[in-house]
Amino acid sequence: MIGIGCDHGGYELKEAIIKHLKERNIEYMDFGCNSEDAVDYPEYAKKTAYAVAEGKCDKGILVCGTGIGISIAANKIKGIRAALCTDCFMAEATRLHNDANILALGGRVVGQGLALKIVDTFLDTEFSNDERHIRRINMIED
Ligand code: RB5
Repeated sequence: MIGIGCDHGGYELKEAIIKHLKERNIEYMDFGCNSEDAVDYPEYAKKTAYAVAEGKCDKGILVCGTGIGISIAANKIKGIRAALCTDCFMAEATRLHNDANILALGGRVVGQGLALKIVDTFLDTEFSNDERHIRRINMIED
């Protein structure tokens, strides 16, 4: 189960990602927003992040204009490791090394084609489970 949320700057890309998830038969929970009317990104970041932190969703995807504000807000929630990615290398590395549980994207930064590839890479890459990466992640949580 994937939790997905956005603000107005990420709404268009969020809708494209939902269409893509449907095509891949991946279940999702949409935490809004639901239009391009201006909203406050922390509200949607927190709704989505809590769903991931509480185990209602396995992973999350958050989109705002830059991906910055929404990832900063999500990372305030205990247990959340939100990674802002602008390419597939970052998406793969953050799954392998950081076990990131939320992908953040900038709807005004990456084109839709690249964004969907980043989503696929993030969702399809498992954590490495390497001892050194587990140790470092635990150090973040302490
Ligand atoms: C909204 O204009 C914009 O500030 C927001 O989408 C995001 O980029 C914030 O980090």
